Amino acid sequence: MSTIVDFLGSDHRACDDLFASAEVAVAQNNWDSARSLFERFQKAMAHHLAMEEEVLFPAFEARTGMRMGPTEVMRAEHEQMRGLLQEMAGAVAHADHGRYLGLSETLNMLIQQHNLKEENMLYPMSDQVLGGERDSVIRSMEALSV
Ligand SMILES: [Fe+2]
Ligand SMILES: [Fe+2]
Repeated sequence: MSTIVDFLGSDHRACDDLFASAEVAVAQNNWDSARSLFERFQKAMAHHLAMEEEVLFPAFEARTGMRMGPTEVMRAEHEQMRGLLQEMAGAVAHADHGRYLGLSETLNMLIQQHNLKEENMLYPMSDQVLGGERDSVIRSMEALSV
């Protein structure tokens, strides 16, 4: 079994790859490809955020008793990401190249900073506090369908 750091860290990489591919397609004005890549990116993000909010964060909060700590900050940043993704979906629907690229720059900065905090702090702390519960938390995240 893997660690939280490895499991969710590789999922960050998978989401980043889709994000980058969608951006290339938009930059090339290849809208058929941009639409399908953006849709895959949006789904991958929805799944990632749900794995954290519905499985990892509650398990972390139960183990540490910290409800207003790091998970609260992460949830707030997820909401900002969802807002930007929704605006980007609108830009894709209208084939609005400039708007999409402006929003994607903002989202990229937000995601990179957020992921660093998770990978350097929240995930390693989770691996530590979950102990023997870690494998079942990973299995529950894998089983989650969004
Ligand atoms: Fe997150
Ligand atoms: Fe994450």
